[in-house]
Amino acid sequence: MNDTPLSPQAQPGDNLDAALRIKRLDELHGQDYVRNNLDILISAARQRGDSLDHVLLYGPPGLGKTTVAHVVANEMDVNLKITAGPAIERTGDLAAILTNLRKGDILFIDEIHRLGRAVEEILYPAMEDFALDIVIGKGPSARNIRLKLPRFTVIGATTRLALLTSPLRARFGAVLRFDFYEVSAIEGIIRRAAELTNTPATEEGISEIAHRARGTPRVALRLFRRVRDFAEVRADGQITAQVADDALDLLEIDNLGLDGLDRIVLESIILKFGGGPVGLETIAASVSEESDTIMDVVEPYLLQLGFLDRTPRGRMATPRAYEHMGFAYQAPASEQPTLFEG
Ligand SMILES: Nc1ncnc2c1ncn2[C@@H]1O[C@H](COP(=O)(O)OP(=O)(O)OP(=O)(O)O)[C@@H](O)[C@H]1O
Ligand SMILES: [Mg+2]
Repeated sequence: MNDTPLSPQAQPGDNLDAALRIKRLDELHGQDYVRNNLDILISAARQRGDSLDHVLLYGPPGLGKTTVAHVVANEMDVNLKITAGPAIERTGDLAAILTNLRKGDILFIDEIHRLGRAVEEILYPAMEDFALDIVIGKGPSARNIRLKLPRFTVIGATTRLALLTSPLRARFGAVLRFDFYEVSAIEGIIRRAAELTNTPATEEGISEIAHRARGTPRVALRLFRRVRDFAEVRADGQITAQVADDALDLLEIDNLGLDGLDRIVLESIILKFGGGPVGLETIAASVSEESDTIMDVVEPYLLQLGFLDRTPRGRMATPRAYEHMGFAYQAPASEQPTLFEG
């Protein structure tokens, strides 16, 4: 068993999130690449009695970036200070955070691609030389002073690696990518949630949820909760394949895990824009959704399924997308051979 504060079994009404939070690296199901690399970084730092190198975690939402930052702090047995790019508005905000760090502390900066330029420029020397350059006073009497900082570690997280400036990216000793989880890893996560919450579930029931969780732990745990509710209200409390299937149908989650928004996006590309190519902003406007949501949440999974192609002129629905959505495939006008007359 593990040592979560609410273990062994979370009771109804307990904070499920806290109960399910993982503490150790070896509890992380799947994501082998991230786990193995972190394991080496952590072990090496520990052996040398050194602080951990700066680590950048990137990938789609809900795959465990924040979770891993907590796990690393726990494994290193150091404090974790949490902040986010948009929360650090002025350089003074960052200076205040940095001067409050103690040796070995981990500073977790979520949405690190949203740090302002001026703030970033304070962060570079802080990460590289553990020094804070500040200007005191104004005009001719202004002086630069350099404050020494304790050796600390930045763990940055982002869903948009491409938006990170290259100097910032270069300050990280390790840049680790999160991928969608294999179904078996998602099954492991759901099985653990069922055990910790004392929810009876068959393997088929767990598997049914896992197949529709789009390779994402956050989605898996959300679906698990909804199916558990359904099992308690509409059945005898046990999560079976039938119960999971009925509950997920009610939520309009299809057999590949696509939800309402995913399908609206695909339908829009196919029906309104002839399959594409169509720009992201246009798609977002046509389905009345934020383009960020489409880019971060909808698109990565559709790309992974091979339902979308990203071309320089925009997004295109693939034949597989047409098939899944139940439409006859028509090659977009731009791909049809041109007929010359005469
Ligand atoms: N490997 C895992 N095993 C078990 N649970 C996990 C795992 N990864 C994530 N979770 C759970 O999934 C949920 C989402 O994880 P987390 O918040 O770490 O994702 P994130 O990558 O930081 O997402 P975002 O980009 O939206 O900030 C949490 O409830 C977390 O406990
Ligand atoms: Mg997060």
